[in-house]
Amino acid sequence: MFVTGDFTLKDATGKEFTTKKGCSLCRCGLSSNKPFCDGAHKGVFQDESRANK
Ligand code: FES
Repeated sequence: MFVTGDFTLKDATGKEFTTKKGCSLCRCGLSSNKPFCDGAHKGVFQDESRANK
């Protein structure tokens, strides 16, 4: 999921992540850099077109 705009991304404890004006968030749970997508979803799912929207 690619997110753009003016936002603040926080974890469950309230710690803020440094983001730019846009970032890709992991929806599959496979990323080694959660909450961000690191591309680990590629080649894993049948319908990859939905992995990062
Ligand atoms: S959506 Fe999880 S690694 Fe890309």
